[in-house]
Amino acid sequence: MTTAQTPQLDVQPSPLALLLLGRGADPRSERGVECPGDLPDPSDPDLVARARAAKEKLGSKVFVLGHHYQRDEVIQFADVTGDSFKLARDAAARPDAEYIVFCGVHFMAESADILTTDDQKVVLPDLAAGCSMADMATAEQVAECWDVLTEAGVAEQVVPVSYMNSSADIKAFTGKHGGTICTSSNAERALEWAFQQGEKVLFLPDQHLGRNTAVRDMGMSLEDCVLYNPHKPNGGLTAEQLRDAKMILWRGHCSVHGRFSLESVEDVRERVPGVNVLVHPECRHEVVAAADYVGSTEYIIKTLEAAPAGSKWAIGTELNLVRRLANRFAPEGKEIVFLDKTVCFCSTMNRIDLPHLVWTLESLAEGTLVNRIEVDPETEAFAKLALERMLALP
Ligand code: 13P
Ligand code: SF4
Repeated sequence: MTTAQTPQLDVQPSPLALLLLGRGADPRSERGVECPGDLPDPSDPDLVARARAAKEKLGSKVFVLGHHYQRDEVIQFADVTGDSFKLARDAAARPDAEYIVFCGVHFMAESADILTTDDQKVVLPDLAAGCSMADMATAEQVAECWDVLTEAGVAEQVVPVSYMNSSADIKAFTGKHGGTICTSSNAERALEWAFQQGEKVLFLPDQHLGRNTAVRDMGMSLEDCVLYNPHKPNGGLTAEQLRDAKMILWRGHCSVHGRFSLESVEDVRERVPGVNVLVHPECRHEVVAAADYVGSTEYIIKTLEAAPAGSKWAIGTELNLVRRLANRFAPEGKEIVFLDKTVCFCSTMNRIDLPHLVWTLESLAEGTLVNRIEVDPETEAFAKLALERMLALP
């Protein structure tokens, strides 16, 4: 994330600063490790040709998935692009590809590994492409939370719903406790399903997606939601608060979407008269409440595709995607601006660049498997249960 001013975020302690991404191994976190290979020089003018040649050599053995937040230089090599839900489905639908190269972040590659066959190898071009939100819920913290819910006498009524943006450990916890995974495109359906199974939901790790879905889409009140802070004893909640709540939200957030504020919405409405404000549901509740449209990255793209010529849009999501959409739709007379005045990339998504992709594809083409993401069998079994519940949602 590149920022020009201090964001007013709901900041939580994090075991390592984002700047340390890629330094040293932390196998249980989303951060991964430094690239073990010899990366090509970023100024090599032949990088595009090299990526093309390696991909051609690999032929149908390789399938490249690209999340919408990837850089242009990378996304041009994706066989499919999508939001996290579509990419999970696309990965599962290609059992013939020996290598799935995931241009996205660590939790997405883990999910692809869980959903593909044992013979398929999922590769993340830069192991340091993690997700700071996913890191905000560790297996130990979530196990402790479950103990707190048990002590308060509510665990039996609680169904966990975990956002795709979580580690395989958290997905396994969710599967083990009868819950489901959701993405930003099916969170409402996941919550409806969960409330048919139990009386309360523990929503991990994105408080904003949980709150926005419960309040904006399902008509619950803000008072139905409580915030569980893993850094406070008992989550900072009393047993009574837990007993009264419908939604127990984990105190996690996305630092990229957390930048957008009510002020950004008011400001853009003033600067661009007649603008439609379209934001991702990872934005804070007051931003989502003030927006005109809210949805996943795929929804954002579809909405802009269907928009009439001459319409104006302010988009509250990651900048690579917004910039690409602004360029794509400008010739159709659609004016697209970034919701915030300052630049805001997802720093971890951005770690996958052309040198890493070239290195990955050339290594695979030479028969060297690099940067494999492999979830251990026990974690995989329970995480798969939770992911399959999501895929089976009506
Ligand atoms: P989507 O599922 O909407 O693509 O979102 C993924 C993500 O990481 C958003 O920050
Ligand atoms: Fe994680 Fe936010 Fe980046 Fe999405 S945009 S991958 S939630 S840090």
